[in-house]
Amino acid sequence: MASEKRRILTTSALPYANGPIHLGHLVEYIQTDIWVRFQRQQGHECYYVCADDAHGTAIMLRAEADGVTPEALIERIGLEHRADFEDFHVLFDNYYTTHSPENRFFAEYIYQQLEAKGHISRRIIKQAFDPEKEIFLPDRFIKGECPRCGTADQYGDNCESCGATYAPTDLKNPVSAISGVTPVERESEHYFFRLADFEEMLRDWTHGGGLQPEVRNKLKEWFDAGLQDWDISRDAPYFGFEIPGHEGKYFYVWLDAPIGYMASFQNLCDARGLNFDEFWRPGSAAELYHFIGKDILYFHALFWPAMLHGAGFRTPDAIFAHGFLTVNGQKMSKSRGTFITARTYLDHLDPEYLRYYLAAKLNHRVEDLDLNFDDFVLRVNADLVGKLVNIASRCAGFIHKRFAGTLSSGVCDQGLYDDFLAVRPVVTECYENREYSRAMREIMALADRANQFIADHKPWEIAKQEGRDQELQEICSLGLNLFRVLITYLSPVLPVTAGRVEDFLRCTVSAAGSWDALDSPLRDHQISKFKHLVQRIEKDRIDAMIDMSKDAEDEPTPPAEPIAETINFDDFARVDLRIARITAAQRVEGADKLLQLTLDLGGDTRNVFAGIKSAYSPEQLVGRLTVMVANLAPRKMRFGVSEGMVLAAGPGGEELWLLSPDNGARPGMRVN
Ligand code: MSP
Ligand code: ZN
Repeated sequence: MASEKRRILTTSALPYANGPIHLGHLVEYIQTDIWVRFQRQQGHECYYVCADDAHGTAIMLRAEADGVTPEALIERIGLEHRADFEDFHVLFDNYYTTHSPENRFFAEYIYQQLEAKGHISRRIIKQAFDPEKEIFLPDRFIKGECPRCGTADQYGDNCESCGATYAPTDLKNPVSAISGVTPVERESEHYFFRLADFEEMLRDWTHGGGLQPEVRNKLKEWFDAGLQDWDISRDAPYFGFEIPGHEGKYFYVWLDAPIGYMASFQNLCDARGLNFDEFWRPGSAAELYHFIGKDILYFHALFWPAMLHGAGFRTPDAIFAHGFLTVNGQKMSKSRGTFITARTYLDHLDPEYLRYYLAAKLNHRVEDLDLNFDDFVLRVNADLVGKLVNIASRCAGFIHKRFAGTLSSGVCDQGLYDDFLAVRPVVTECYENREYSRAMREIMALADRANQFIADHKPWEIAKQEGRDQELQEICSLGLNLFRVLITYLSPVLPVTAGRVEDFLRCTVSAAGSWDALDSPLRDHQISKFKHLVQRIEKDRIDAMIDMSKDAEDEPTPPAEPIAETINFDDFARVDLRIARITAAQRVEGADKLLQLTLDLGGDTRNVFAGIKSAYSPEQLVGRLTVMVANLAPRKMRFGVSEGMVLAAGPGGEELWLLSPDNGARPGMRVN
């Protein structure tokens, strides 16, 4: 088994410092952690670094809305993230932040190198500007009416109603989502990274062999479409690093984010006396891998290698991209209670259940994966409790009661033990290639064989018979030796259970060298008392977790809107708010977002198109009371004339709540 010792640096993408870690994120961190633990067990020198991604407009505005400084916000979130990862047993060598001196140093250095070599250009561009907040508005901070269908309240890049895509400057009646005022166009000079300068280098890199076929295809599409200049500057106010020598200009968050990988590693080098250049300079013998989600491929497979190369660093050996997690077949959703944060999960369930379940689903392709809770309960209970732990619990008792906790010196079926060892290279290869689901299948097939062996030999019957002690001891000892092999194979996935087994079997199953140590089964070996290893999942824990997630407040949403400018009573009275009863509701042919409502105002009937289809079905609405703006000028829409507006709260999508007056209110009553 002895292979040459490799030096490997591994990263996961840096989570944004404005929201909690959720189960979707954990796909990536657990995938990486399993890989890194596996490498270390093979005796390789493998480092795993990460950090919080702490810069950008969203974080700045979120801090402002919370009434704290960005530094205080990222500090708090950083602590939460660390605790979440630790409790999921994601074992970083270093978890840092992009708002660090090391990251500033490398961002400036790389920028200066690129500029000196002519890879930065400047030009003036026009952008939407909020004259009240005095801030340039990123696309998702501008809202307005769709230029094609007129639907109100659409974001600056595409219409949720008719699907049109456009520039934020095309919106009709645009408003700033921050202040509510109409944005103006303003010019400003921006800095661009000339990606096209690197086309040849990137094509070579693409064919280097380390990339997944899906990733290579994506890159080919991008090459065919032509490589575009990348806008890497943002104007003040911005939370980030100022570009040296250019006051009021900042590095765009996505410029310094991947550089955060280097900064975190530099910080680790300083703490441990490692040599940074041995990992990052061209010609380095060390391997470099980035685990990422498919959504951020462009940044990692184009900009990042180009930046590294342009600044005189080595490029990554591979990018390992994974797909997205869905829960019960759908996008994670707060209203369904499937937007589950790491912390809520931990409050209800053992982290190793998720580690195992994800391992059983993950492969080396860029495919989405589904967490189905019925399947989750079945799988974990059947595999970990029913198959794995069962082996140990059926054998351990006899060894203690009858043989003072000592394993036999003989192996009664060496052929079976050898069959278990024969799978070792297969499992090794699966971990190496991130085919964890296949590894789990192979391991569970062995667990079936171990259980079959015990069932065939019936130690509980032999135990009742005179003169068969040696046989009994050998059968149970082999059962425990097979169990040791399995748990060794599983230890990258189940580090805590592996630790408990180490206490129980009094041998290492997870340290470097433990895979090779399987060559010799434990003989004449003293073990400890068997203690419980993995508990069954009870379905009610899942229900409780989903219930709690329905109320969780801290889903990363755009910053809370500040309270609008003060108005006087007359302004308020000009809006005529009325109780209305929804007497009919129907879907609108060709509209993704709208429902057509018939509203009874106590005699007067109104036809209103409301963008609430994502949150309500028509059947849920008929008969219900709500509040409407009754004196809004009628508006012609693609589907007809809308005569007013119903009041609903929430950021949108499924998270919209229609105002519902108590029964007793009557249609037509005035509200204000
Ligand atoms: N800050 C950037 C990454 C910068 S890396 C230099 C970012 N942050 S993130 O918090 O949005 O996502 C962090 C990682 O989690 C990304 O790789 C992303 O793909 C992954 N995931 C976030 N939601 C996910 C799912 N629902 N499913 C699987 N992975 C997901 O992007
Ligand atoms: Zn539209």
